[in-house]
Amino acid sequence: MNSQPTSREVLKLGVLISGGGSTLENLLAHLRDGRLRGAELRQVISSRGTVRGVELARAAGLPVTVIRRRDHADDGAFSAAITAVLAGAGVELALLAGFLCFWRIPARYAGRVLNIHPALLPRYGGRGFYGRHVHEAVLAAGETESGCTVHLADNQYDHGPIVAQARVPVRPDDTAETLAERVGIAERELYPQVIQQVADRGLAWLRTFR
Ligand code: GAR
Repeated sequence: MNSQPTSREVLKLGVLISGGGSTLENLLAHLRDGRLRGAELRQVISSRGTVRGVELARAAGLPVTVIRRRDHADDGAFSAAITAVLAGAGVELALLAGFLCFWRIPARYAGRVLNIHPALLPRYGGRGFYGRHVHEAVLAAGETESGCTVHLADNQYDHGPIVAQARVPVRPDDTAETLAERVGIAERELYPQVIQQVADRGLAWLRTFR
């Protein structure tokens, strides 16, 4: 008997980006070569029009919608536009992937939005903590360990129940670039692993994290 999930059981993903799309690129690679099974990417949303992530998504033949904050009167209208596109595409699990804007998560997506952050939350997260700023802060504090965090997103930046973390050492001679590279390797493993778990166990599994 075929143990592959039927199309109805495939977890429908949406990815939200703002820039380079490195996380999107990694997810696409996993989906393409079968390292992430039982899931499909239905929609990409970008808060910026001219970024590499949009090009990547288009090249992969994915539906991409650019939704810019400045084209909307307020956070509410911006958030409603995002929700409408995701819901219209049938997205069940939304993945923040370097998304730098504020999406006010509506009730229908509560507990169905994941974020990955390049630090061990709850430290070194929140508004302004993205990209090299995170790693510079970790180095400035003299930390000997950093890593990445996958968490359920709520309506605060980089906040919500932690689902998984991966740790990496901080070396004495690290720069923000070398630390970012090490954390990036951990990110590229951790996010697909967590999504695979959701695909295997179902969205209800995410409700066990509080
Ligand atoms: C990733 O390192 C992710 O952890 C980080 O953005 C990077 C992806 O950006 N997210 C955050 O810092 C969230 N606060 P990219 O897709 O533009 O390359």
